[in-house]
Amino acid sequence: MWFVYGDFLFPLAILLMLLGTPCLGSFVKSEDKIKSSVFLSPKFELGPGSVINRYYYDIDFPRGHIAIKSFNAEVIDEAGNSIPLHETYLHHWVVARYHKSKHVTHREYDSHRMLQNSDNGVLVRNSGICQENTLGQYFGLGSETRGTATDIPDPFGIEIGNPAEIPEGFEEKWLVNVHAIDTRGAEDKLGCTECKCDLYNVTVDEYGRPIRPDYKGGLLCCYDYSQCKLKEGFEGPKRSLYLKYTIKWVDWNDFIVPVKIYIIDVTDTLLQLSDSSKGLNSEHSCKVEYLVESCSTDYKEGNGCVNVRRTSLPLQTGGYVIYGVAHQHSGGIGSTLYGQDGRVICSSIPSYGNGNEAGNEAGYIVGMSTCYPQPGSVKIIDGETLTLESSYNNSQEHTGVMGLFYLLVAEQLPYQQYFRHSTRSSFFVNV
Ligand SMILES: *[C@@H]1O[C@H](CO)[C@@H](O)[C@H](O)[C@H]1NC(C)=O
Ligand SMILES: *[C@@H]1O[C@H](CO)[C@@H](O)[C@H](O)[C@H]1NC(C)=O
Repeated sequence: MWFVYGDFLFPLAILLMLLGTPCLGSFVKSEDKIKSSVFLSPKFELGPGSVINRYYYDIDFPRGHIAIKSFNAEVIDEAGNSIPLHETYLHHWVVARYHKSKHVTHREYDSHRMLQNSDNGVLVRNSGICQENTLGQYFGLGSETRGTATDIPDPFGIEIGNPAEIPEGFEEKWLVNVHAIDTRGAEDKLGCTECKCDLYNVTVDEYGRPIRPDYKGGLLCCYDYSQCKLKEGFEGPKRSLYLKYTIKWVDWNDFIVPVKIYIIDVTDTLLQLSDSSKGLNSEHSCKVEYLVESCSTDYKEGNGCVNVRRTSLPLQTGGYVIYGVAHQHSGGIGSTLYGQDGRVICSSIPSYGNGNEAGNEAGYIVGMSTCYPQPGSVKIIDGETLTLESSYNNSQEHTGVMGLFYLLVAEQLPYQQYFRHSTRSSFFVNV
């Protein structure tokens, strides 16, 4: 007889398994069960030229044992209007997961740094591959967020809230870091968004440490409460804004195949550390941002001004690529991830706006193309060395740019998962 569990008809699954053609996506009819919620970050205020780089802890988030299916975001004002990037540039937003003790009641969060004091919580980082907590987020994009697809196809999802993974006495929480720059009236809007230190009149970082003279721009110069240079005499009102984020999810069930989140950084280099007990060890060194120098004038004539940055790194555990997307800043012209044999795993290309309205701002990256390989068709083998390439148009200099690549990787395909379940547990108990 038919054994119905949720929406799944087992004999169909068995049939597909026997045919050996996993008709992916047809096992799980979860479309009708997808839940969606819109949340707002705490309010932040920005005046012309000002910057916020804040960490908001314990933000609103769907609770329970669920699978996230998409995560979208944008900046809005109090009336709910979408704010264009040429007014408020969304440098980045990052959402991270952490475990917080139920017994710590006082909350003295350092709004500048992520979970420095372990009383506040312990970051639950993604699957890698940068050092320590660097780029440990689950979700995050920048100016491109309105035009970048984040949906995870069925039957895959990002598993969160599994009670078995939350240590006794702790709760799962989420934080968001929002870094936004108000460029209304700025003398040099692009310069402000690239955090050029001279425009911020900054020579020491937010903790008062001197910035080395060859550091021309980047995160050290556009910290929380810093101020970018305005046109002489420009005045404009302060306004209250929010990061609005929309999450889609489904309740967890055993037919959802979990995906792991990897973020590869083109500035990552492996440091070889010798450890007498374990032999040679290596450690990642992700710097998150880098400088793209301007090409020489000879090249400018010939239109050949492309800066390509490259890194090669092994991925300890492989799997099937379900989704891929790059993150670049203005000037970016694309990023490609290659396998060890030179095959293209995913190529992600920015699209630039050509108008004035939110989502189509001229000169800004308003979307990144994504990869959705047919599940099973793009496999990374365990220990495979991947090469990431990030290209920028360097007909002019760009400071504080990024070259990140997000990958969602499934360690099994649905029919394998099914097989695993059917052998380990007693789902075949038939009537
Ligand atoms: C830049 O910073 C210096 C030192 O902090 C200060 O004396 C100067 O007035 C600032 N210039 C502008 C234009 O704000
Ligand atoms: C780089 O930018 C310059 C100036 O906007 C443009 O003329 C040139 O075609 C661009 N080159 C590439 C490779 O995109």
